[in-house]
Amino acid sequence: MEITIHPVTPERRKPKPVDESALGFGKIFTDHMFVMHHDAERGWHDPSIVPYGPFSLDPGTMCFHYGQEIFEGMKAYRGENDNLFMFRPEKNIARMNQSAERLCMPPVDPDFFMEALKTLIRVEKDWIPHGRGTSLYIRPTMIATEVALGVHPSNAYLFFIILSPVGAYYPEGFNPTRIYVSDSFVRACPGGVGNCKAAGNYAASLYASTEASNQGYTQVLWLDALTRTCPEEVGTSNIFFVLDGTLVTPPLGGTILPGVMRDSIMRLARSWDMNVEERRLSMDDLIESLNTGRLTEVFASGTAAVVSPVGLIRYRDRDHEINGGSVGPVTRRLYDEILKIQYGEGDDPFEWRARIDP
Ligand SMILES: Cc1ncc(COP(=O)(O)O)c(C=O)c1O
Repeated sequence: MEITIHPVTPERRKPKPVDESALGFGKIFTDHMFVMHHDAERGWHDPSIVPYGPFSLDPGTMCFHYGQEIFEGMKAYRGENDNLFMFRPEKNIARMNQSAERLCMPPVDPDFFMEALKTLIRVEKDWIPHGRGTSLYIRPTMIATEVALGVHPSNAYLFFIILSPVGAYYPEGFNPTRIYVSDSFVRACPGGVGNCKAAGNYAASLYASTEASNQGYTQVLWLDALTRTCPEEVGTSNIFFVLDGTLVTPPLGGTILPGVMRDSIMRLARSWDMNVEERRLSMDDLIESLNTGRLTEVFASGTAAVVSPVGLIRYRDRDHEINGGSVGPVTRRLYDEILKIQYGEGDDPFEWRARIDP
């Protein structure tokens, strides 16, 4: 399939943000977007890059009613000499197709998906900010577009990719978060869609995260749905513990989103000869290990922040401080090493960089 490009007219080009420190996250969108349609007869067709703008959708369009919508989140980085990279985009492409399968949506050919990403980023390359830590956030999305009521898989879909320049996550250095353990609400249950990037998962998380925020906490620490004793994820990130010098993270098993950063962190730590284990830990074990000094670091991992240190955990009406509320050495080392790979500094031992040729 050939991607048709319809560039915006010069007078419709938006001004690029001048102050990169004010970019924030997801507030500004670039001049163009990628769009492509699917129906049963033609499969995916008419891929094109068009001026960024609103869609006109019938109020009966199925995505408004039954939540058949999935998305991805990834970034493009500008390194030295204006070299442009993505970080392991093939993992996001594969995960989008896994989400699609689970939600009865059509997969996108991985090679074509990659071509669409690279073509769009090339068109929008001047929107990739320059400062270290800044990036161009990439949001591929798929929605059901059949106009009908009644719950069934849609017979038509729209796939689009939009781009947003985003600021450095830690302009003033790490800020350890305060997290709140929810044992009243759960994010995912076995047999559900917790391992997919389904839009409905995020809607379902809002009540607990609002409650946590109202009580002065940054994120929710989600426990497993069946026993409500074992941490699974934190906010919209995976979670890691440094326990007796071993890096521990909960095993996937269907209720946890298989994070690209989660996998990268485990591989990097193993390459340092650090012991890495995927195993369940209960909150009681964690609190006891904290009190006896065996649990030294807790951090969240994800595309947005790479790693986000946890300074305090609220569990059953008590606040538990971690590592004196400051950032531990493993957290810091992982952050530094992954940033170097993302920005094209030094070696790429795992071949994680996907270069975007000008
Ligand atoms: C629920 C959830 N868990 C974990 C992650 C981290 O995944 P990744 O490392 O691929 O960004 C995300 C972010 O995409 C998420 O939404």
